[in-house]
Amino acid sequence: MNTRLLNVIGLTKSLGTGISKLSVLGGISLNMAQGEFVSIVGPSGCGKTTLLMCLSGLYRADSGRVEFNGVEVKGPTAGVSIVFQDYSRSLLPWKSVADNVLFGMYREGDTPSREKRDRASELLNAVGLRGFESRYPWELSGGMQQRVAIARGLASRPQLLLLDEPLAAVDAQTRAEMQDLILTLAARYQQSCLLITHDVDEAIYMANRIIVLSNRPTKVVCEIDVDLPENRDQLETREDPTFLRIRHQVISLIRGMRTPVELEHTQGASR
Ligand SMILES: Nc1ncnc2c1ncn2[C@@H]1O[C@H](COP(=O)(O)OP(=O)(O)OP(=O)(O)O)[C@@H](O)[C@H]1O
Ligand SMILES: [Mg+2]
Repeated sequence: MNTRLLNVIGLTKSLGTGISKLSVLGGISLNMAQGEFVSIVGPSGCGKTTLLMCLSGLYRADSGRVEFNGVEVKGPTAGVSIVFQDYSRSLLPWKSVADNVLFGMYREGDTPSREKRDRASELLNAVGLRGFESRYPWELSGGMQQRVAIARGLASRPQLLLLDEPLAAVDAQTRAEMQDLILTLAARYQQSCLLITHDVDEAIYMANRIIVLSNRPTKVVCEIDVDLPENRDQLETREDPTFLRIRHQVISLIRGMRTPVELEHTQGASR
């Protein structure tokens, strides 16, 4: 875990133009080592997706620098893969499940197609979708579709997997199963993962480290090492005093960032 995989220095980014121009990233610095699982939490709309877009090279930052393996990221980068929140918009509806996963290897012109097909079926097997290879995404449940998206994210054997709220659209039971699936895959492929989630419990459950972001223009407020046993368990981990302590710390931080209007809403809703 000593190699510096990702190094982000003073990233700023505005979106929109003219009077609707919005300063979103306010100077983000963070880093990740090979093999780490890092969760990022922050208030709604603070710029988490924008940050991920900059890290993946899909957005160019206004200033600052993203380095992947010591090399500046200037565009979509081999070795970095992204799983978007909205699988219904990110899966290709006219392609079969297997072809969606194969699409994740589009850069690998030199890899024999037999090898790519074998890798796609290994991944579909790993995410529990053996037998669904020739189905279309719209024939599957939401959880199954997100599993296809995760298999596609892993298809290029990325060094870094970026996950943008991948489980936000699935029900609670599926969500817990998918958390464990992602952890199993991360361990099996020794996958470095950067997970964005608005769910503080999920952030702690999944990660070795949590990064808390502020309101917009967003900055890193604090980083917390998640000193929990490597093997996570949906019941035991969540009852662990360390888990509860970190949960308290993160929720207090995020609560402290809410605007008075948001606080009024939450208090109103709980009355
Ligand atoms: N293309 C765009 N043009 C202008 N403003 C944008 C654009 N994309 C996002 N924004 C604005 O930038 C801010 C940050 O958006 P972003 O999607 O990064 O936030 P987020 O933290 O991911 O939000 P959420 O928690 O809802 O997923 C929001 O206020 C959003 O309205
Ligand atoms: Mg987002």
